[in-house]
Amino acid sequence: MSDRYAVIGNPIGFSKSPLIHGTFAEMTGQDLVYEAIEGPIDGFSERVDQFRTEGAKGLNITAPFKLDAFAYANELSESAKRAGAANCLKFDGDRIIAENFDGIGLVRDITVNLGVKMAGRRVLMLGAGGAARGALLPFLRQEPSELVLVNRTLSKAVALAEEFAGCGPLIVSGYAELADLAEGYDVVVNATSASLRGEMPPLPGNVFRGAALAYELAYGKGLTPFLQAARAEGVAKLADGVGMLVEQAAEAFSWWRRVRPSTARVIAELTVPLS
Ligand code: ATR
Repeated sequence: MSDRYAVIGNPIGFSKSPLIHGTFAEMTGQDLVYEAIEGPIDGFSERVDQFRTEGAKGLNITAPFKLDAFAYANELSESAKRAGAANCLKFDGDRIIAENFDGIGLVRDITVNLGVKMAGRRVLMLGAGGAARGALLPFLRQEPSELVLVNRTLSKAVALAEEFAGCGPLIVSGYAELADLAEGYDVVVNATSASLRGEMPPLPGNVFRGAALAYELAYGKGLTPFLQAARAEGVAKLADGVGMLVEQAAEAFSWWRRVRPSTARVIAELTVPLS
């Protein structure tokens, strides 16, 4: 019988994970079945218990269950601990192992697929929610010359930076202070949820001066207000989160199956032009 995997979320209808993992399985010749589960909002554990009794080997987790998955696990990787959330589980007998591949997927997309190095560069991250939290350590491991975390609610960014004190050159800022900067950032990443509502964080345009890359974590939203602002300032490269989505899936697939799928074809298939 084929090994079983799934993605769980609510809603789940728009998830690309079945397509991505199905393609990876076909490309690598792995015998598995991958499905989408709409988890009950108050019944994550029960639904996953059921999936495990059916012989499941692993699960991808999307909104709103990343904290539930973290609590459900009985072993946590360092990245899951640091993110305080899990986006992937592996089931091995009684072991329920949690990982979080979002941050590493984002870093791989930026540095490998888009070819933009972060080492020694100035990086600006917008937002201090779950998405930003998951990316902080993988970003700091790239050894940027500085990583500035900017958030509308400054106290949240301060609290987050305190958790990562000692991990690298992490600096907190409010949006207004950025207007006084003489030089822009090399890489600007929007990890806020503003674009999901078509909103623009109050970001002064000068941050984009000379930037190599503006990256929007939201995927499939086209030219969001953030990307439009970056384009207006002449940023060399614009990207949305499609590559991150596929790269985190490739990390999960490699962890489960011990074979690494190549990602270029799937990214090309899922890319929606940014215009
Ligand atoms: P996620 O898990 O997607 O990161 P979250 O934890 O709710 O979602 O965090 C959302 C982030 O987007 C926060 O940093 C939020 O800023 P506040 O902490 O000040 O609320 C940020 N955000 C959402 N809408 C925004 C907007 N219009 N302008 C600026 N920041 C915004």
